Amino acid sequence: MVQACYDQLAVHRLERKSFIVALGGGVVGDLAGFVAATYLRGIAFVQVPTTLLAQVDSSVGGKVGVNLKAGKNLVGAFYQPRLVACDLDTIKTLPDREFRAGLAEVIKYGIIYDAHLFTQIERDLPKLLKREPKMLATVVARCCEIKAEVVGLDETDGGPRAILNFGHTIGHAIENISGYGKFLHGEAIAMGQVAAAKLSREILGLHARDIGRIENLFRRAGLPVRIRLNAMRRQKLLHAMRLDKKVSGGEIKFVLAEKIGKVVWNQRVPEHVIQGALAEIVNRQSSIENSK
Ligand SMILES: NC(=O)c1ccc[n+]([C@@H]2O[C@H](COP(=O)([O-])OP(=O)(O)OC[C@H]3O[C@@H](n4cnc5c(N)ncnc54)[C@H](O)[C@@H]3O)[C@@H](O)[C@H]2O)c1
Ligand SMILES: [Zn+2]
Repeated sequence: MVQACYDQLAVHRLERKSFIVALGGGVVGDLAGFVAATYLRGIAFVQVPTTLLAQVDSSVGGKVGVNLKAGKNLVGAFYQPRLVACDLDTIKTLPDREFRAGLAEVIKYGIIYDAHLFTQIERDLPKLLKREPKMLATVVARCCEIKAEVVGLDETDGGPRAILNFGHTIGHAIENISGYGKFLHGEAIAMGQVAAAKLSREILGLHARDIGRIENLFRRAGLPVRIRLNAMRRQKLLHAMRLDKKVSGGEIKFVLAEKIGKVVWNQRVPEHVIQGALAEIVNRQSSIENSK
């Protein structure tokens, strides 16, 4: 697809001063941004994200790229769009499952950065699920603000930007072992965030009440908080976590929550604690069924 895009740009004789508009979800945004970053050594581009996930997450922050057979996002760049224009009308046609998956990232911003946002989502979730424009506008704008603030502190990763990965180490591993496609990204990170909350209890003493609120909000948003895994697949999950690109020096580092609204990154977690948290998100009855 990258090659086909370059060819079209050449046919239409785009110049240094031309620009590309990425109209679509995160896949289109990442691809168009990558093409813009590399064509003629970089031409301007504009993000017009049309999914909730793309509006609150992938369109902001400048990470662009494409997948290889060997893995996701292996080729890419940090390349900022000149403008991100979120037209909330586009959300009207988004399938329900995609919308709910986007909410997993929205809820994440509450957990990692903004306790007030979290409380607001708890209170106004029914309106949000009805996609009321006023509600959507407030929430989408706040999420973009948070992402921009965090990326502003650390554009190219390695520092505070890591907090955006709350729930993602486990979430990515879930996507990986289920063969990408069974769960949407948002669904996988909903389970990942619940597991990360349990790890946070063990390592940082996150209060049981906060864990309950987190789990409950994902549930109310129609997102999975439990996964069916037998012992063998649980091992596979651990193995996949070790292969995650956030692993350095063989150690898995986690983003953990002290309380709703405040997280810390670069946290080491002993393997038996990870095992324990995974056991808690496993749907026991089905894990027995699965292992039969
Ligand atoms: N660059 C980043 O920082 C970053 C961050 C998070 C995710 N991502 C990437 O984003 C991608 C996921 O993005 P996504 O969730 O938007 O998925 P997507 O782009 O695949 O869109 C989801 C589905 O919705 C359809 N769609 C898009 N807009 C629609 C609309 N308005 N109405 C009806 N259908 C619509 C699409 O055709 C697609 O089938 C992944 O590839 C992920 O790696 C990038
Ligand atoms: Zn994500």
